[in-house]
Amino acid sequence: MQPWTTGSPALVAEWGLDPTVDYLNHGSFGATPRTVLAVQTALREEMERELILFLARQLPARLDAVRARVAAFLDCDAPGLVFVPNATHGVQAALDAIDWLPGDEVVHADHGYGAVKRALLRLEHRFGVRQVPAVVPFPIERAEQVVEAFAAAIGPRTRLVIVDHITSATALILPAAELVALARARGVPVLVDGAHAPGLLPLSIASLVPDFYTGNLHKWVCAPKGAAVLWIHPDWRRRAHPTVTSHGYGLGPAPEFEWTGTFDPTAWLAVPAALDKLEAFGLEAVRASNHGLVQEGRARLAHALGTELPHPDSRDWYGPMAAVHVPWAQAGQGPELTARLYEEHRIEVPFTAYDSRCFVRISGQLYNRPEQYVRLADLLRTWR
Ligand SMILES: Cc1ncc(COP(=O)(O)O)c(C=O)c1O
Repeated sequence: MQPWTTGSPALVAEWGLDPTVDYLNHGSFGATPRTVLAVQTALREEMERELILFLARQLPARLDAVRARVAAFLDCDAPGLVFVPNATHGVQAALDAIDWLPGDEVVHADHGYGAVKRALLRLEHRFGVRQVPAVVPFPIERAEQVVEAFAAAIGPRTRLVIVDHITSATALILPAAELVALARARGVPVLVDGAHAPGLLPLSIASLVPDFYTGNLHKWVCAPKGAAVLWIHPDWRRRAHPTVTSHGYGLGPAPEFEWTGTFDPTAWLAVPAALDKLEAFGLEAVRASNHGLVQEGRARLAHALGTELPHPDSRDWYGPMAAVHVPWAQAGQGPELTARLYEEHRIEVPFTAYDSRCFVRISGQLYNRPEQYVRLADLLRTWR
């Protein structure tokens, strides 16, 4: 048993969140414990005291040390792992590594992240690349349905498969290992967009062996905003470049990606403090506790809303986030409902859209208590 209780005053005090708000949206931007922010502040002060020493002379070696720690955490080789500001940058670098031709296709789940779909739209405008959706049914029962959806979408013109490891609007864990194996068997490169995955799931990039894996550390590792990684398979290391070119061009992944002009690297340098914190709480205990909150919460919500649960009740399908269908709402109402629920009831929870339906997506983190989901479910019974 862990020596803490989720949502206890001591745990709530670890974060600086507004105590008058039921914050059920860790998924969007994470939330960073005060002690980790204090480490970042100390790093900033150190940087500002000796700027040249810090940024020009010490930074590469200090990032190498952080890289070794994160590579061990994600189980991948350190030379292929680079820091990026967020998963969006990681995805763009993977897209830019390919020499696109008109008529090339990219397979991406219909549950895929909206901003990535916009990046693919830009490829369409620039090169005539087509997006082909893998239509993953939701509600869903079996992992094979996901694999079948991708298998049906991959064709002779497919140049890239993108797998959202955890989908954004529907909070579904996709069977990444099976999907990477499928893409490999068809001879197509695969990018895993693991924006939510580090910290949320035990990860072994070495076992997965995608062409690219990107993931945020500012979500479920609780590092400061701007901490994310991109892992690049050896076959791509000479061809993958950051969106912005600077001194490191041609010198290898770390020099290229980790200096794209003057910036504040303290979010990356504070990652070990965030990992220390998570490990002190107990990684598996945190995962189980957060999942438990959401497991209870989604059952209550589905009951209150009179809707069916969209996937089996197993940690293969979801972790500390879950989406429940809101039958009385239209898909386009999401942002308005999210803002109104916050203004009227001080609950921060996103209403998301998928396939012309509206969902409420709850998250669970150590600062949350079971009563917060009860309150949300009771409210949504009648609130419009
Ligand atoms: C699947 C997926 N990809 C990419 C992103 C983008 O993450 P970021 O805004 O940190 O770049 C998100 C954000 O939630 C996401 O859910």
